[in-house]
Amino acid sequence: MRLSLQFDSAVNDLAEKGYAVCNDYFDQNLLHEVFNYLKAQQVKNAFQKALIGNGQKKVLAQEVRGDEIYWLNKDRDVKLSKLFDLYDTLVDSLRNALRISINDFEFHFAHYPIGTYYKKHVDTFQTDSSRMLSVVLYLNEGWAEEDGGQIVLYPETGEKLVVQPEMGTMVIFNSLKVPHEVLPTNKSRYSLTGWLLNKTSLF
Ligand code: OGA
Ligand code: MN
Repeated sequence: MRLSLQFDSAVNDLAEKGYAVCNDYFDQNLLHEVFNYLKAQQVKNAFQKALIGNGQKKVLAQEVRGDEIYWLNKDRDVKLSKLFDLYDTLVDSLRNALRISINDFEFHFAHYPIGTYYKKHVDTFQTDSSRMLSVVLYLNEGWAEEDGGQIVLYPETGEKLVVQPEMGTMVIFNSLKVPHEVLPTNKSRYSLTGWLLNKTSLF
Protein backbone atom coordinates (compact mmCIF):
# COMPACT_ATOMS: atom_id res chain seq x y z
CA MET A 1 0.00 0.00 0.00
CA ARG A 2 1.29 3.44 -0.94
CA LEU A 3 2.25 5.69 1.89
CA SER A 4 -0.42 8.37 2.04
CA LEU A 5 -0.40 10.63 5.05
CA GLN A 6 -3.82 11.97 4.22
CA PHE A 7 -5.73 8.90 3.21
CA ASP A 8 -6.78 7.74 6.69
CA SER A 9 -8.17 11.11 7.63
CA ALA A 10 -9.87 11.29 4.23
CA VAL A 11 -11.67 8.05 5.03
CA ASN A 12 -12.82 9.52 8.37
CA ASP A 13 -14.09 12.64 6.62
CA LEU A 14 -15.94 10.51 4.13
CA ALA A 15 -17.69 8.55 6.88
CA GLU A 16 -18.59 11.69 8.81
CA LYS A 17 -19.35 14.26 6.14
CA GLY A 18 -19.92 12.34 2.93
CA TYR A 19 -16.89 13.82 1.17
CA ALA A 20 -13.12 14.03 1.45
CA VAL A 21 -10.13 15.55 -0.32
CA CYS A 22 -6.70 13.91 -0.50
CA ASN A 23 -3.61 15.19 -2.34
CA ASP A 24 -1.01 12.51 -1.82
CA TYR A 25 -2.40 9.15 -2.85
CA PHE A 26 -0.66 8.95 -6.25
CA ASP A 27 2.96 9.90 -6.80
CA GLN A 28 3.97 12.52 -9.36
CA ASN A 29 5.65 10.05 -11.74
CA LEU A 30 2.52 7.96 -12.01
CA LEU A 31 0.33 11.04 -12.41
CA HIS A 32 2.46 12.19 -15.34
CA GLU A 33 2.36 8.74 -16.92
CA VAL A 34 -1.42 8.76 -16.64
CA PHE A 35 -1.64 12.26 -18.11
CA ASN A 36 0.61 11.29 -21.03
CA TYR A 37 -1.59 8.29 -21.70
CA LEU A 38 -4.66 10.53 -21.62
CA LYS A 39 -3.05 12.91 -24.15
CA ALA A 40 -2.19 9.99 -26.43
CA GLN A 41 -5.87 8.96 -26.47
CA GLN A 42 -6.87 12.52 -27.20
CA VAL A 43 -4.49 12.68 -30.18
CA LYS A 44 -6.09 9.48 -31.48
CA ASN A 45 -9.53 11.14 -31.25
CA ALA A 46 -10.63 8.48 -28.77
CA PHE A 47 -12.65 10.95 -26.67
CA GLN A 48 -16.38 11.32 -27.24
CA LYS A 49 -18.81 14.01 -26.19
CA ALA A 50 -20.29 13.09 -22.83
CA LEU A 51 -24.03 12.41 -22.59
CA ILE A 52 -26.42 12.72 -19.68
CA GLY A 53 -28.76 10.03 -18.40
CA ASN A 54 -28.36 6.27 -18.64
CA GLY A 55 -29.73 3.21 -20.39
CA GLN A 56 -32.00 4.04 -23.32
CA LYS A 57 -32.23 7.66 -22.22
CA LYS A 58 -28.75 9.01 -22.95
CA VAL A 59 -28.80 12.43 -24.58
CA LEU A 60 -26.29 15.08 -25.58
CA ALA A 61 -26.97 18.19 -23.49
CA GLN A 62 -24.08 20.61 -23.77
CA GLU A 63 -25.99 23.24 -21.81
CA VAL A 64 -25.75 20.80 -18.87
CA ARG A 65 -22.29 19.28 -19.39
CA GLY A 66 -19.67 20.17 -21.99
CA ASP A 67 -16.95 17.62 -21.39
CA GLU A 68 -15.68 14.84 -23.62
CA ILE A 69 -14.77 11.48 -22.16
CA TYR A 70 -12.84 8.26 -22.68
CA TRP A 71 -14.04 5.20 -20.71
CA LEU A 72 -11.16 3.15 -19.37
CA ASN A 73 -10.99 -0.58 -19.77
CA LYS A 74 -8.53 -2.75 -17.81
CA ASP A 75 -7.99 -5.16 -20.68
CA ARG A 76 -7.47 -2.55 -23.34
CA ASP A 77 -5.67 0.16 -21.36
CA VAL A 78 -2.96 -2.16 -20.04
CA LYS A 79 -0.40 0.64 -19.86
CA LEU A 80 -2.34 1.92 -16.86
CA SER A 81 -2.04 -1.33 -14.89
CA LYS A 82 -0.18 0.38 -12.04
CA LEU A 83 -2.99 2.88 -11.73
CA PHE A 84 -5.64 0.13 -11.77
CA ASP A 85 -3.76 -1.71 -9.00
CA LEU A 86 -3.67 1.40 -6.84
CA TYR A 87 -7.37 1.93 -7.38
CA ASP A 88 -8.02 -1.68 -6.35
CA THR A 89 -6.17 -0.97 -3.11
CA LEU A 90 -8.12 2.24 -2.63
CA VAL A 91 -11.43 0.47 -3.20
CA ASP A 92 -10.44 -2.24 -0.70
CA SER A 93 -9.58 0.36 1.94
CA LEU A 94 -12.85 2.22 1.44
CA ARG A 95 -14.86 -0.99 1.45
CA ASN A 96 -13.30 -2.07 4.75
CA ALA A 97 -13.27 1.30 6.45
CA LEU A 98 -16.80 2.32 5.51
CA ARG A 99 -18.25 -1.20 5.58
CA ILE A 100 -19.99 -0.73 2.28
CA SER A 101 -20.38 -3.34 -0.37
CA ILE A 102 -18.62 -2.42 -3.59
CA ASN A 103 -18.40 -5.03 -6.32
CA ASP A 104 -17.42 -3.04 -9.38
CA PHE A 105 -15.71 0.09 -10.53
CA GLU A 106 -16.03 2.24 -13.66
CA PHE A 107 -14.00 5.24 -14.72
CA HIS A 108 -13.35 7.61 -17.57
CA PHE A 109 -10.93 10.36 -18.47
CA ALA A 110 -12.64 13.71 -18.94
CA HIS A 111 -11.57 16.77 -20.87
CA TYR A 112 -13.42 20.05 -20.38
CA PRO A 113 -12.55 22.38 -23.30
CA ILE A 114 -12.35 26.14 -22.60
CA GLY A 115 -15.75 27.58 -21.70
CA THR A 116 -17.35 24.28 -20.69
CA TYR A 117 -18.81 23.29 -17.32
CA TYR A 118 -21.08 20.73 -15.68
CA LYS A 119 -24.21 22.07 -14.00
CA LYS A 120 -25.12 21.06 -10.44
CA HIS A 121 -26.16 17.38 -10.25
CA VAL A 122 -25.81 14.14 -8.32
CA ASP A 123 -24.06 11.14 -9.87
CA THR A 124 -26.45 8.33 -8.93
CA PHE A 125 -28.99 7.80 -11.71
CA GLN A 126 -32.70 7.93 -10.89
CA THR A 127 -33.30 4.50 -12.38
CA ASP A 128 -30.04 2.82 -11.33
CA SER A 129 -28.76 3.18 -7.81
CA SER A 130 -25.47 1.32 -8.26
CA ARG A 131 -23.17 4.36 -8.01
CA MET A 132 -22.10 4.60 -4.37
CA LEU A 133 -18.99 6.76 -4.28
CA SER A 134 -17.54 9.18 -6.82
CA VAL A 135 -13.77 9.53 -7.04
CA VAL A 136 -12.33 12.37 -9.13
CA LEU A 137 -8.58 12.67 -9.68
CA TYR A 138 -7.36 15.87 -11.30
CA LEU A 139 -4.53 16.01 -13.84
CA ASN A 140 -3.77 19.72 -14.31
CA GLU A 141 -0.31 20.99 -13.46
CA GLY A 142 -0.17 24.53 -12.03
CA TRP A 143 -3.89 25.33 -11.93
CA ALA A 144 -4.65 28.88 -10.75
CA GLU A 145 -7.79 30.34 -9.22
CA GLU A 146 -8.46 32.46 -12.32
CA ASP A 147 -8.38 29.36 -14.52
CA GLY A 148 -11.89 28.56 -13.21
CA GLY A 149 -13.02 24.94 -13.57
CA GLN A 150 -13.28 24.38 -9.82
CA ILE A 151 -15.52 21.62 -8.52
CA VAL A 152 -18.02 22.87 -5.94
CA LEU A 153 -19.54 20.35 -3.53
CA TYR A 154 -22.80 21.02 -1.71
CA PRO A 155 -22.87 18.57 1.20
CA GLU A 156 -26.12 17.94 3.12
CA THR A 157 -24.73 19.63 6.18
CA GLY A 158 -22.18 22.38 6.37
CA GLU A 159 -20.65 24.80 3.97
CA LYS A 160 -20.12 24.31 0.26
CA LEU A 161 -16.58 23.29 -0.63
CA VAL A 162 -14.61 24.63 -3.62
CA VAL A 163 -11.66 22.56 -4.86
CA GLN A 164 -9.05 23.50 -7.48
CA PRO A 165 -8.54 20.73 -10.08
CA GLU A 166 -4.78 20.58 -9.44
CA MET A 167 -2.62 17.61 -10.50
CA GLY A 168 -2.91 14.82 -7.91
CA THR A 169 -5.84 16.24 -5.97
CA MET A 170 -8.48 13.57 -5.44
CA VAL A 171 -12.03 14.30 -4.31
CA ILE A 172 -14.19 11.43 -3.05
CA PHE A 173 -17.88 11.84 -2.22
CA ASN A 174 -21.17 10.06 -1.73
CA SER A 175 -22.61 9.79 -5.27
CA LEU A 176 -26.22 10.03 -4.10
CA LYS A 177 -26.04 12.62 -1.36
CA VAL A 178 -23.56 15.24 -2.51
CA PRO A 179 -24.72 17.52 -5.31
CA HIS A 180 -21.80 19.16 -7.09
CA GLU A 181 -20.93 21.22 -10.15
CA VAL A 182 -17.95 22.10 -12.33
CA LEU A 183 -17.58 25.84 -12.84
CA PRO A 184 -16.84 27.13 -16.36
CA THR A 185 -13.20 26.53 -17.17
CA ASN A 186 -10.88 29.07 -18.76
CA LYS A 187 -8.30 26.41 -19.66
CA SER A 188 -8.46 22.85 -20.96
CA ARG A 189 -9.20 20.81 -17.83
CA TYR A 190 -8.36 17.12 -17.41
CA SER A 191 -9.46 14.52 -14.88
CA LEU A 192 -10.02 10.87 -14.23
CA THR A 193 -13.48 10.31 -12.81
CA GLY A 194 -14.54 7.01 -11.28
CA TRP A 195 -17.47 5.44 -9.50
CA LEU A 196 -17.47 2.63 -6.97
CA LEU A 197 -20.50 0.50 -7.72
CA ASN A 198 -22.75 -1.82 -5.84
CA LYS A 199 -24.36 -3.78 -8.64
CA THR A 200 -27.22 -5.97 -7.61
CA SER A 201 -27.80 -9.00 -9.75
CA LEU A 202 -31.27 -9.67 -11.11
CA PHE A 203 -30.64 -13.40 -10.89
C1 OGA B 1 -18.91 14.08 -13.23
C2 OGA B 1 -18.41 15.20 -12.42
C3 OGA B 1 -16.58 16.49 -11.57
C4 OGA B 1 -15.25 17.04 -11.96
O1 OGA B 1 -18.23 13.66 -14.18
O2 OGA B 1 -20.01 13.57 -12.92
O3 OGA B 1 -19.18 15.74 -11.65
O4 OGA B 1 -14.71 17.81 -11.16
N1 OGA B 1 -17.12 15.57 -12.49
O5 OGA B 1 -14.76 16.73 -13.04
MN1 MN C 1 -20.75 14.40 -11.13
